[in-house]
Amino acid sequence: MNSYLCILTFVFHVLLVSGSSRNLPILSFDEGYSHLFGNDNLMVLKDGKSVHISLDERTGSGFVSQDLYLHGFFSASIKLPADYTAGVVVAFYMSNGDIFEKNHDEIDFEFLGNIRGKNWRIQTNIYGNGSTNVGREERYGLWFDPSEDFHQYSILWTENQIVFYVDRVPIREIKRTQEMGGDFPSKPMSLYATIWDGSGWATNGGRYGVNYKYAPYVAGFSDFVLHGCAVNPLDQSKCQAAPTSDSVPSGIDGEQQMKMGNFRKKHMQYSYCYDRTRYKVPPSECVINAKEAERLRGFDPVTFGGVHHHGKRRHRTRSTQAKASSI
Ligand SMILES: *[C@@H]1O[C@H](CO)[C@@H](O)[C@H](O)[C@H]1NC(C)=O
Repeated sequence: MNSYLCILTFVFHVLLVSGSSRNLPILSFDEGYSHLFGNDNLMVLKDGKSVHISLDERTGSGFVSQDLYLHGFFSASIKLPADYTAGVVVAFYMSNGDIFEKNHDEIDFEFLGNIRGKNWRIQTNIYGNGSTNVGREERYGLWFDPSEDFHQYSILWTENQIVFYVDRVPIREIKRTQEMGGDFPSKPMSLYATIWDGSGWATNGGRYGVNYKYAPYVAGFSDFVLHGCAVNPLDQSKCQAAPTSDSVPSGIDGEQQMKMGNFRKKHMQYSYCYDRTRYKVPPSECVINAKEAERLRGFDPVTFGGVHHHGKRRHRTRSTQAKASSI
């Protein structure tokens, strides 16, 4: 595994220690990303640094990074559509599902729209080596309205750790454990940003579908940071660097841990670790905390309507979805 270590892990270490990403280069859309689907529903703004992706009755839309990355720090500022957004899903995620169909990896931020008057919820999840039978979802409220302004959402991914950040506050840390085995994402992935119709899935387990009376739903993206090792997925040698133990981040620092703890105490609404309906025995990496279990019981344990796979389903147009559901 050490041979996969990227020289940039040194930079990640600095990031971790300082808890900052202030000085990373911000790319224009064309420098880092390409159009993925949805034709005109993806619009690059005049400055070249911001884009709008929208969902209407014809299609959703999305974009994908030009490169695949093995480890790195990836970030975007996102402004979500306002008002009635039930069934709408905006996703900012990493995946290699197009290359490794049977054993893909994934690291997800998913924004789940809501009925009017209720805020967006945000979900994080990972899959490794095609472990789609074990969802590791967590859901949270936020301390701000994410449709009012741009906020920064970031993923740090190293050989042994994944950290999700919102406005530089770490909200979730996943440490690789031996028991997780291949479930920890370990192959190069692309970055994706999409908006799609998650009727039947996204809002209260599919109780509320997308209402196209309120379309188009427009999400803004800007401040693109793609700070990782760009690799050819079939030949990862480009990313080799003399590994030094120093370059491997060991964790987020004390102050960051405290911030993360505070966030999770206040804003976490669901964790797979406490979902006894899905997991009679929690997955091995779960550390069960009685207080947390008690607090999470207070939330409606929404069960999502079946497994949803990223990738193709996400790119489906509405008409093919309608067909699929009428079968
Ligand atoms: C990945 O999954 C395949 C089966 O789909 C398995 O044979 C292989 O050992 C797994 N790899 C790891 C690293 O767990």
